[in-house]
Amino acid sequence: MVKVNDRHIEALEKANQEIAQKKDVIKESAYRLNYHFMAPTGWINDPNGFSQYNGEYQLFYQYYPYDSKWGPMHWGHSKSKDLVYWEHLPVALAPSESYDSGEGVPGYGCFSGSAVVDGEELVLIYTGHVDSNEPMQVQCIATSKDGVAFEKYTQNPVVANFPEDGSKDFRDPKVWKHEDKWYMIVGTKKDGKGKAVLYVSDDLRLWKYKGVAAESDGTQGDMWECPDLFPLNDTHVLIVSPMYGTQNEKPFYVVGDMDYDKGVFTQGTCTTLDYGFDFYAPQTLVDDKGRRIMIGWMEKWLTKMPSQEHGWAGAMTIPRELILEVDTLKQKPVVELADLRTDYKKLDAFEVAEKTTLNELQEVVSETIIDFNISETTATQFGLELRSSEDGSEKTVILLDLKNKEIVMDRLLSGCGEKGISKAPLVVKGISVNLRIFMDTTSVEIFVNDGEQVITNRIFPDANSKLFNIFTQGGKVSVNSIESWKL
Ligand code: FRU
Repeated sequence: MVKVNDRHIEALEKANQEIAQKKDVIKESAYRLNYHFMAPTGWINDPNGFSQYNGEYQLFYQYYPYDSKWGPMHWGHSKSKDLVYWEHLPVALAPSESYDSGEGVPGYGCFSGSAVVDGEELVLIYTGHVDSNEPMQVQCIATSKDGVAFEKYTQNPVVANFPEDGSKDFRDPKVWKHEDKWYMIVGTKKDGKGKAVLYVSDDLRLWKYKGVAAESDGTQGDMWECPDLFPLNDTHVLIVSPMYGTQNEKPFYVVGDMDYDKGVFTQGTCTTLDYGFDFYAPQTLVDDKGRRIMIGWMEKWLTKMPSQEHGWAGAMTIPRELILEVDTLKQKPVVELADLRTDYKKLDAFEVAEKTTLNELQEVVSETIIDFNISETTATQFGLELRSSEDGSEKTVILLDLKNKEIVMDRLLSGCGEKGISKAPLVVKGISVNLRIFMDTTSVEIFVNDGEQVITNRIFPDANSKLFNIFTQGGKVSVNSIESWKL
């Protein structure tokens, strides 16, 4: 009889061969990013199993190596010493069993989950999804002693039934240790409310249901995907990617108190994590320096993905350190990214009275920090045009609207990708507004005022659209400084 892990090894070999055959062609294909994480071939979505093992960061991800669209899910795998340069490793999980859609079993594979280090082992906890007449989502584990080869647990699934408080949508386990016990939250739904349900275990194999740790207040989505609950400072933060029933379906965070005995998280205020269109299913880890770091899928469902025509789709955001200041979760690009900086340029204070072109400062793959002094500004709106063409028919506009207290990223003219306007609240404290902008060949991530608000979008302009402008409307505005680096 063929055993679990023989079947698994066979499925993995097939996936790895596919990658080996295609990766050199994909590497050269259109729209590849320079410093954002991408898979060697095919489709990716959520980050999974974001963790650290033997001092190296581990990033797994939802992966379909055979095509540029979503298909039976595998877990791709890579590692990094510094969160900047990633080394691709063999595929970690492939569908092979009756509980995760193996050979002869209707789709959809090894869905999202997390990873923890247990003694010498790196343990993956994932959702097995079978799409038969009776769709089924169950929680499973796989372990590795070398951080490369993963064996599925022969007694899988470790949680076989969806909880009484939930439904068959029951996925994306996130596991962490508190005192001497393992805790796991899983996303689900019931009665039109998204929920995160909690389990507890001594050994990662036998799990006891504790109940609903948190649920939608009626406005936060009717299914919760990829919940992540973690301690930060002396409180806890819950991150959720909601489906349906919300205004914008953007991932949000809630700061609150966790009672481990009762298994209940008491929710405080709820805030959008990233106001862009291309940010979903983020996951966090705590590293050996004690930092809480988040990475997200820099794309989302049902969006136009021009790279699909070139055999691949999907990337991750830059890793962002999470800093909690009272109830505000700030996102700071991890300091290691400074290693990418070259060609430093700086412009000191100047005044902008009308459209000012600063072409010499713009590099397509770059980091730019702009500090506006708004103490004496007479403008109601001012902002930037990124990746503009000579005739202005292509551009991505960043607008700071002091009257409506909004910061807007407008990608209606940003090339061949999805269109749309993202809006975030502009909270002005003191006399300056600071923007830190990370651009890559096909992405823009803007961190406003030290990462208090973030906007992430993919853009697909022509390679020749490289102008950078500053503009104001209805008055002048002062720039304290502009610093930039080619990355
Ligand atoms: C979120 C998600 C998860 C699921 C995975 C499937 O983007 O829908 O809920 O596990 O993607 O690929």
